[in-house]
Amino acid sequence: MVKIDLTGCDAFIKPEVFDRYVNKALEAQAVLENQTGAGNDFLGWQHLPSETGQAEIDDCLSVVDSWLEREVDLVVVIGIGGSYLGAKAAIEALSHSFAAHLGSQGLKVVFAGENLSEDYTAELLDLVRLHNTACVVISKSGTTTEPAVAFRLLKRHLEETYGKEEACARIVAITDKARGALKSLSNQEGYKTFVIEDNVGGRFSVLTPVGLVPIALAGFDIEAMLKGAKDAEAALSQRSADNPAVRYAAMRNLLYDNGKKIELFASFNPKLQYLGEWFKQLFGESEGKDGKGIFPASVIFTTDLHSMGQYIQQGERILFETVVTVENAGREVTIPSDPQDLDGLNYLAGKHVEHCNRMAQLGTKMAHIDGGVPNLEIRIDRLDEYNLGQLFYFFEKVCGISAYQLGVNPFNQPGVEAYKKNMFKLLEKPGY
Ligand code: PA5
Repeated sequence: MVKIDLTGCDAFIKPEVFDRYVNKALEAQAVLENQTGAGNDFLGWQHLPSETGQAEIDDCLSVVDSWLEREVDLVVVIGIGGSYLGAKAAIEALSHSFAAHLGSQGLKVVFAGENLSEDYTAELLDLVRLHNTACVVISKSGTTTEPAVAFRLLKRHLEETYGKEEACARIVAITDKARGALKSLSNQEGYKTFVIEDNVGGRFSVLTPVGLVPIALAGFDIEAMLKGAKDAEAALSQRSADNPAVRYAAMRNLLYDNGKKIELFASFNPKLQYLGEWFKQLFGESEGKDGKGIFPASVIFTTDLHSMGQYIQQGERILFETVVTVENAGREVTIPSDPQDLDGLNYLAGKHVEHCNRMAQLGTKMAHIDGGVPNLEIRIDRLDEYNLGQLFYFFEKVCGISAYQLGVNPFNQPGVEAYKKNMFKLLEKPGY
């Protein structure tokens, strides 16, 4: 199970005050699990892992089989926000760091519809012309502009290249069961569709076909991921002060109330960079409202110790950091001895690179605590599908508890509409 170490906060809190916050977090957990809080019609994610059966898994895998049969070698996954970040985070975490240059283990998956850059779009079209391409388009509302623009272009490319009937077999839509332009378009064109249930919001949807279909297409084991999430679902439903999700939510709120307004999601593993992006969306959209909320930021160490390290150590004291540690590296590399030792590195000869990474992590933790930055650590055993499934569920659960403890509705995002209204007016969309 995901482990949590809060000892890096000891210098900043009083144990009796923390106990009070744990009790409040337990109350928030009850509100979440008893479905008595604001937004309680969006709690379907809580039991998704235990309720997803073999038939649903096989349905996701049928897309992989169908496209492998067609010798597809590139899949464009179109979506934004919660319809993008979970799959991106998982695929980045599980892939070889140089998969783009080496070839990937499953189909090559690229993402689109998460921006409106003309250069990116043109370059995507350059890429699809060189490949045997298929497309997954994901939008819960079915009306979001960014993915709709990308999909219109991809659809045209697929129809012009393969003909209408074959294009239809190369498009999968993941959307609402009844509403939205994507649903009606899919019905009309006859695309294979997956439903995003009404009671699962975008940023809580990584363990639905929204995440599972792209992750399976990239060649990863979605059954193992769901198994990890299912084990987390059972473990984190304990109403106990030892529940790591409760303790983490309590500590976040205590630190926030004591002026620590920014949470830095950190990892010493660059494969988790996009998990940081997913984390930011999950917590930012869920908690940042009503003039409240911890601002979520993310860094990758040691890389960012050479860019953000100075601020973290000595800038405004409004930060705490949550470090996700992968306890066992997947590979081993030993630093060699050099007879001349011109670089003076022989003191490291025979040591694993990961040993240096660990010492960097420990040294950073000590320095940051000395500098006034509380340190929370979340540990997983290794970076695989099972552990990632646990991690996704863990953060979702923490987010629900923590937001209720903060006193906001975790499941709406009214603020996201503001830019859209202005953009639509400027684009002269009918009705704006
Ligand atoms: O978490 C959310 O609900 C949002 O981030 C959405 O996922 C995002 O806005 C995309 O929406 P849609 O899937 O409707 O296109």
